[in-house]
Amino acid sequence: MVYYVKQGIVPESRHTYDDRGKVRREELFGEESFDGPYSLIYHINEPTRVSSVQSEKKYESMRKDSVMLHRHFRTSGFEYSPDHFRSRQVLLFNSTLKIGVMKLKGKQCDCFYRNALHDEVLFIHKGNGILHSMLGDIKFRQNDYVYIPKGTTYKIDHEGELDIFFVQSKERIGIPPRYLNVYGQLKEGTPYYERDFRTPVLGKPSTERGEFNVYVDYSSYFAVEKRDENPFDVEGWDGHLYPYAINTDTMAPIVGKLHQPPPVHETFSGKTFMIGTFLPRKFDFHPRSIPISYYHSNVDTDEVLFYSSGNFMSRKGIEPGSVTIHVRGLIHGPQPGSVEKSLGKEGTDEIAVMVEAYEPLIPTEKSEEIEDKGYMKSWYS
Ligand SMILES: [Fe+2]
Repeated sequence: MVYYVKQGIVPESRHTYDDRGKVRREELFGEESFDGPYSLIYHINEPTRVSSVQSEKKYESMRKDSVMLHRHFRTSGFEYSPDHFRSRQVLLFNSTLKIGVMKLKGKQCDCFYRNALHDEVLFIHKGNGILHSMLGDIKFRQNDYVYIPKGTTYKIDHEGELDIFFVQSKERIGIPPRYLNVYGQLKEGTPYYERDFRTPVLGKPSTERGEFNVYVDYSSYFAVEKRDENPFDVEGWDGHLYPYAINTDTMAPIVGKLHQPPPVHETFSGKTFMIGTFLPRKFDFHPRSIPISYYHSNVDTDEVLFYSSGNFMSRKGIEPGSVTIHVRGLIHGPQPGSVEKSLGKEGTDEIAVMVEAYEPLIPTEKSEEIEDKGYMKSWYS
């Protein structure tokens, strides 16, 4: 994140103690070795204390027929399940990204999760809850993005159904550098402001002893750490690396006299991808403007859309929870009849998340179960 946050009690100076009888265990939690964003975390217990580590296999496999096609997945076809870390359904992946959904309902395993390889952005499609992390709690609700840096130990707490679209990235998921001025502040004219971000609130550190399992996600398997002290034992922390949330309601979409291209909708970025948000907005104000998107060839990106709510004007057969991928090499755009239908429309209430990936995305075997096989023909009528 771009600004400094402090929670709880920290020593007056880093790498020192204030009270010799209460020396805390300082952990540097940082990306890009010691050169990237970081926070300093003060534990009551030794963060390295693990009684044993076991492994648990995961199953994620690419399709054997992974031909490049425009595809549509109806995630309403997946069942709900209780554990957020075992029930993540990856639909598409490349060497950097994993894109998919989780649909949660029922009593969660009382376990902790930590993604060893990927930064994560969760988009809350339906429901609400609390992200409990070692740096504190963040309440989340529908239309929130929740960013979680890799290495964060956390739990997700919720009641009722919780539907999440997620993007995991081995590269850091950050604020687009072009949104920041040379002083590191968000520039005027960007779709959001520092005030819009919600950061963790740290409560009392836990001194609980017992049996605690942390599922550390290494993509193809979990390393299950067994601990005898609760890992949420942090008395204080400060720095620039922490989970945060932002709601799409607080964002200000950029509109213009003529159709605006997807980069104006950018929300987060990595080196080889961007995540954008299509927000409720007024359409273009030229008297003869065509509000709907033009046909386009993304000659070096694959484009994924998660349709959350509203009226998805350019797409037939799409429903809330749908995911489409429009691939490089094949042209895509409005379906027959939708250009004419869009003329004179003044605005949209749609909310959709877009991911543009420079490296080709491969569909998983799991995605085949919920694929709308007629989608490629939806332009042929
Ligand atoms: Fe597109």
